[in-house]
Amino acid sequence: MGLLVAVVSTGALVALEGCKSDPASPGFEYMPDMYRSASYKAYEVNPNFADSMEARLPVKGTIPRGGMYTNYAPYEYPNTNEGYEAAGLNLKNPIAATPAILAEGKRLYEVFCVHCHGEKGDGQGWLVTSGKFAGVPSYSGQLKDLTEGKMYHTLMYGKNMMGSHASQVNMTERWTIIRYVQTLQKGGAMPADTTASAAKDSTKTK
Ligand code: HEC
Repeated sequence: MGLLVAVVSTGALVALEGCKSDPASPGFEYMPDMYRSASYKAYEVNPNFADSMEARLPVKGTIPRGGMYTNYAPYEYPNTNEGYEAAGLNLKNPIAATPAILAEGKRLYEVFCVHCHGEKGDGQGWLVTSGKFAGVPSYSGQLKDLTEGKMYHTLMYGKNMMGSHASQVNMTERWTIIRYVQTLQKGGAMPADTTASAAKDSTKTK
């Protein structure tokens, strides 16, 4: 009996403790650490950092995993004549000119470049032939010996009347298009796509 009274009265006390006059008060908190984390939240002020930001920026030069071939890839050549010359000397295309890459380069070229540079790369895209734009050089003419590094530099920063294409095409796409532009420098002959026909042959034998 004594035990029952003790249990009931303790229960009543606990229940009453929850009835605070302030309706906004959460009342009794059992183990407040479980409600309120001791760690800083992402956008909270953090007095441990000089700039008080809790959400930190990545270390300078950080590249996301798999990001080498995206727009996050660092580009160390400045937008100057010296940068252009240095890129021309040192930058090499990391992507091999396989038939599949050339086909993809052609596809990208037809999306991003053909309206100025023309299907044959002769500078006679429809913007030029329609009289809306002028001064596009021919790849197999004036630009016959242009190095791939200079091409990449021009895609990054643009050149005179050609704007930068850095935001339209990422690093992989730039180098892929350059492979195709190099075939246009040599007159546009594409090697036969042996990978596709090899795949076809292997399906035939099955
Ligand atoms: C709006 C028209 C336009 C578009 C679109 C355009 N270009 Fe150009 N491009 C030009 C003009 C104009 C020049 C000549 C720049 C100069 O030397 O004055 C040029 C020059 C170039 C050169 C020579 C750069 C050098 O170093 O001398 C390359 C290579 C080139 N373009 C590639 C491309 C590729 C690849 C694309 C598509 C991703 C592209 N262009 C899209 C107009 C364009």
